[in-house]
Amino acid sequence: MLDNLGNLTRSHYCGDLNTDHIGQNVTVMGWVNKRRDLGGLIFIDLRDVKGILQIVIRPEQEEIFAKAEKVRNEYVIAVCGIINARSEQNINPSIPTGKIELVAEDFYILNDAQPLPVQFSEAAMAEEDLRLTYRYLDLRRPKLQNIIITRHRIMQIIRDFLNNEGFYEIETPILMKSTPEGARDYLVPSRVQPGKFYALPQSPQMFKQLLMIAGFDKYYQIARCFRDEDLRADRQPEFTQLDIELSFVTQAQIFDLLERLMYKLFKGILDVSLSIPFPIIPYAEAMENYGCDKPDIRFGMKLNDISTIVANSSFNVFSSALQNGGVVKAIAIPGAANFSRKQQDELIELAKHLGGKGIAFAKVTENGLEAGISKFLSLEETEAIIDVTGAVTNDLIAIAADNYEMVCKVLSGIRNYLAEKLGLIPEDNYAFCWITDFPLFAKNAETGAWEPAHHMFTLPKEEHIPYLDLPEKIGEITGQLYDLVCNGVELSSGSIRCHRYDIQKKIFDILGFSNKELQDRFGFFLEALKYGTPPHGGIAPGLDRLVMIMTKAESIRDVIAFPKSLKAADLMTQAPSEVEPQQWKELHLAPTK
Ligand code: AMO
Repeated sequence: MLDNLGNLTRSHYCGDLNTDHIGQNVTVMGWVNKRRDLGGLIFIDLRDVKGILQIVIRPEQEEIFAKAEKVRNEYVIAVCGIINARSEQNINPSIPTGKIELVAEDFYILNDAQPLPVQFSEAAMAEEDLRLTYRYLDLRRPKLQNIIITRHRIMQIIRDFLNNEGFYEIETPILMKSTPEGARDYLVPSRVQPGKFYALPQSPQMFKQLLMIAGFDKYYQIARCFRDEDLRADRQPEFTQLDIELSFVTQAQIFDLLERLMYKLFKGILDVSLSIPFPIIPYAEAMENYGCDKPDIRFGMKLNDISTIVANSSFNVFSSALQNGGVVKAIAIPGAANFSRKQQDELIELAKHLGGKGIAFAKVTENGLEAGISKFLSLEETEAIIDVTGAVTNDLIAIAADNYEMVCKVLSGIRNYLAEKLGLIPEDNYAFCWITDFPLFAKNAETGAWEPAHHMFTLPKEEHIPYLDLPEKIGEITGQLYDLVCNGVELSSGSIRCHRYDIQKKIFDILGFSNKELQDRFGFFLEALKYGTPPHGGIAPGLDRLVMIMTKAESIRDVIAFPKSLKAADLMTQAPSEVEPQQWKELHLAPTK
């Protein structure tokens, strides 16, 4: 027989109780985490959103003892009673309420629970697909619940901070015309306009710029974005951005705003004082030193160009790479001189997996370089390599020779892989940096056409604006673009936008839009630029990635209450799913087979 809640009210959450409450009468409600029958007593670990409390049911309380004997894991109960101090030998230091227990005087079974389809404990983690199918049960795990609650606190701090800075929180449409951010759109067919589609926003980019044109000055939105792209550990088809835009703003002011926001978040959530301002690393320097535009600067192992040193080397791989206009770069792997053949082969395999040809090695000993390719190097070359890489005895030098992009890709992959493997990454260290001065355009290797390297609404650096009229200079144009990177993760992207119609139009022309295409896709936006657009810029931190970093979550799925699987499916509700033939018809659609 189940009890009714009736007028019974909860006085405390389990996790809020402590030794200050000893002697007090309390009423708690929650789920049975575990029941133990011991020496004639029943102990129940009661769990609610704030924590776990031990309940004791004594045999003298015959009626409630009989009830307590019936409860199983995950039953929903309410218990009234008095908080007692636990005896010294019964203290449980592993939970915050370990010094107290509740001696039951009233006991209500509010609902029963069937045995769970799988165990949802940290100790016995079920397969992820099963956990996603029963996500509401998976979310009962305190670890996951804490992450979702931390996410709430992060959003609260963000809102408080930006509200205090004079920002307006403004919603933008979900059913809209496509905003290009480089991914495929999710499309929604229109019922009332046959053959027409809405796109779900890849980001609110154009709307936030239109809000600046409208004069709102400072906008933010915790905005849901949708991108139909291949998923990875830090990508979801539906994710959240903290979308920010300001008028009459400089890059330096945006950096300052974000640094203060990050400082406040890390202080408030983790009690960590970030060192601000964050270092600024121009894109070219990031590529040169780290081989990628989202460098993890928590550890060294920088890339070093040794092309000029080995320019006359008898080692064919180096000379042929250089003759083909490529580069030769090296990293010193600390203390890795004793890497076995197998460990070296593993790195070669990784290099090949990344698209490279391999890696050459040499060990640093007290006598210079030994083994591997050392026999191809002269004394001067050896000394120069040791000098430029900063290698010391017992290091292993890893060298890649190829075109610039491939050398960067291979060595940056190896750098990140080894840092993890060799334990070079300091714990609890949050290394932020700004990456700036990205190229505005990139050439498509197959078609030879110019594409936006990042963002097509970005203003070129002032001194590069004239290059828009010089076809031979297009590749040299630097955009006022910036990324905020933390621990090797691209956390945010942003830019100072094109507020001038003429410049935006030239950018669209370089990107090869026909007038019709331009009119169809961006006509409204280009027109808006004509009616008094203030200089403006913005940024959009990925909220999910921020929460991942702050909670040390391994997967983006752990920071989203109801995430999609790697196949972009909601395994719990079974979305996407088939729809009735009538719905196809209403939407003026027909299956292709
Ligand atoms: P961008 O496309 O770089 O910029 O996105 C900004 C940030 O959003 C996060 N992000 C994602 N997170 C999870 N899953 C995804 N599929 C995903 N894609 C992106 C990243 C990224 O840094 N409108 C511009 C911003 C601006 O210029 O203001 C934009 O969307 O953390």
